[in-house]
Amino acid sequence: MSEGTPKFKVTVDNITIEVPPGTTILNAARMIGGDVCPPAMCYYSKLKDSGGKCRTCLVEVSKGSEKDPRPMPKLVASCRTTVMDGMEVKNLTSEKVVDARKGVVEFLLLNHPLDCPVCDQAGECDLQNLSYEHGTEGTRYEFKRRTFEKEDIGPYISLHMTRCIMCFRCVFAADQLTEKREHGIMERGDHAQISTYLNKALDHDFIGNVIDVCPVGALTDRTFRFKNRVWFTKPLDAHRDCPKCSGKVRLWTRGEEVFRVTARKDQWGEVEEFICNDCRFHKKEKKDWVIEGPSIIQRSSVISQGHYVGTKKTPVLIDKVIGKEPLHLLNIHDVSDVNRPDIDLSKIEGPAHSDDFNTDHHVSTGLKKWTDNK
Ligand code: SF4
Ligand code: FES
Repeated sequence: MSEGTPKFKVTVDNITIEVPPGTTILNAARMIGGDVCPPAMCYYSKLKDSGGKCRTCLVEVSKGSEKDPRPMPKLVASCRTTVMDGMEVKNLTSEKVVDARKGVVEFLLLNHPLDCPVCDQAGECDLQNLSYEHGTEGTRYEFKRRTFEKEDIGPYISLHMTRCIMCFRCVFAADQLTEKREHGIMERGDHAQISTYLNKALDHDFIGNVIDVCPVGALTDRTFRFKNRVWFTKPLDAHRDCPKCSGKVRLWTRGEEVFRVTARKDQWGEVEEFICNDCRFHKKEKKDWVIEGPSIIQRSSVISQGHYVGTKKTPVLIDKVIGKEPLHLLNIHDVSDVNRPDIDLSKIEGPAHSDDFNTDHHVSTGLKKWTDNK
């Protein structure tokens, strides 16, 4: 756009900003930042034509424009509505919006199972965050939930259709990042589901990105499934010289182990640069990467708990004071049968079981005998 192009003035929750014509209300709010930004479960700035599906971004337009100040009669999807000059928008300052958003969360949760304790997306799930921030305690829905069998779509991706909220992001990502489209939304209405055509595997150098764009735990990384809770891992920004993608990634580590590799996400939870499958699934050693440092994680995220950057550890002096090592400072690895640093959890095929930790020293605990008799 040339320098002289006029800008439109738009006010969101009493904060005024000037934006280029054609900007959506959601993006104008993002330019302001902070709480005035409506949540977005289906819009994804990096995916063309995304948005308009989930209705979480509804806002009230209390003044249409300077020329036509009439308010819009209904709440509008801010990701699909462009601003007009002089427009006034209410997000959190509108009771109607707050109430409608509660209803939208209730709808999104109609069929979504509350299986967060076993879901790999827990801790980084947009729906979990949305329901904490905008949801209500209960649901009025009494009918049978729709459920689906878990499907493995390819060697790296698991599909839990039961958790899908039909945002279409993965369909757009597969469509726009790969040259052949192999999955989509089948059927309509209550029967709609994400699936591959004829149960084909999703196979393309960039297909792993559907995992990152999925806002819930419907598409998960099979190489990371049940390996660790994400808040126990330490995210590090790292890069490598990759011939296929930018090679700029986030490593999810614990000690020296790399549990998972993902693209880096920005403050809106969107991927900064899409990465290839080689970086994501085949470079799981720290030596494959140039580590840049700890990733910046939003303070409100459960992942940031316990991740302190630049702090000094207070020296433990109690043994010097009482003359012996107190019992509560024992090293868990000395006594635990299932928490052994010599076993790389990330290398175990599927979830870890007690059998994976069975060695002769378990005879004394009786564990080996018990598993033998099973
Ligand atoms: S699988 Fe995930 S990304 Fe795809 S439509 Fe469902 S919720 Fe959206
Ligand atoms: S983000 Fe606007 S409708 Fe989903």
